[in-house]
Amino acid sequence: MATRHFLTLLDLSPEELNHLIQRAITIKNRLKAQGPTYTPFTNRTLAMFFEKSSTRTRVSFETAMAHFGGHALFLSPRDTQLGRGEPIGDTARVLAEMVDIVMIRTFSHAGLEEYAAASQVPVINALTDDYHPCQLLADVMTWTECRGSVKGKTAVWIGDGNNMCHSWINAARQFDFRLRICCPPGYEPNADLVAAAGDRVEISHDPQQAVQGAGLITTDVWASMGQEEEQAKRERDFDGFQVTEALLDRAADSALFLHCLPAHRGEEISTTLLDDPRAVVWQEAGNRLHAQKALIEFLLLGKVDD
Ligand code: CP
Ligand code: NVA
Repeated sequence: MATRHFLTLLDLSPEELNHLIQRAITIKNRLKAQGPTYTPFTNRTLAMFFEKSSTRTRVSFETAMAHFGGHALFLSPRDTQLGRGEPIGDTARVLAEMVDIVMIRTFSHAGLEEYAAASQVPVINALTDDYHPCQLLADVMTWTECRGSVKGKTAVWIGDGNNMCHSWINAARQFDFRLRICCPPGYEPNADLVAAAGDRVEISHDPQQAVQGAGLITTDVWASMGQEEEQAKRERDFDGFQVTEALLDRAADSALFLHCLPAHRGEEISTTLLDDPRAVVWQEAGNRLHAQKALIEFLLLGKVDD
């Protein structure tokens, strides 16, 4: 089987992505019923490169490999030769001689692509400055669990046109739902990505209008990792873009709220929003484990249907 990578949601077909969501739900239900008895990757190894901080991503990938009977290696630039200038391609070739699959959280998406191009084993994007596709697997899984098929439904992104927003755009395209992006002027997502999504995606600047009747509202921090020095300016620029209970009241009665987390209470969300029953963020965070198990299984074994 040719090596498949997961650098963005566009690396899998819509049919494969829908399979992955259903498979993640099956894997989750079996784990709840039977415990971690499914061990297809005994003694297999996942290498995890983290150039940025993480709680959910690290714990979910590491736990996924433990449940699967395998092992995960935490690697950081501070204590690998990558951090001392060993070329990305050389590192990729060496790792492929030893491990079965690789996960990378880094700044440059081009750097991730360079690694993947040299890797004979699957490479998973665990967040770059441009995309966070693993989070969208968990988000679409959560939306599906709560409300059935997402096809034709409407989600609203409030906030920065950042890596998460870009992955929501790709998700709208691949899972065939509508996405309203509502951002302050100057914080729009990549125009080419928006254009490629066609009429599924629209951009506006008024949160009160954007959420009207929508089935799902989501947001993210105003300053992402690597943008810390812009925090004060962004707090000013995003004034009026906080997601509150009152804003959710303008959406559909059945509306859900998602946030990839970590959240900054009192900034992009009201201090109490995560306690609102419409917020399903803990389920969403937990689904990182199940969705990534389905992803690892798919990349190593292809479609599994049992
Ligand atoms: N949502 C997410 O990726 O969280 P971490 O940064 O904690 O991994
Ligand atoms: N946009 C955020 C997501 C964190 C999971 C960041 O890149 O920091």
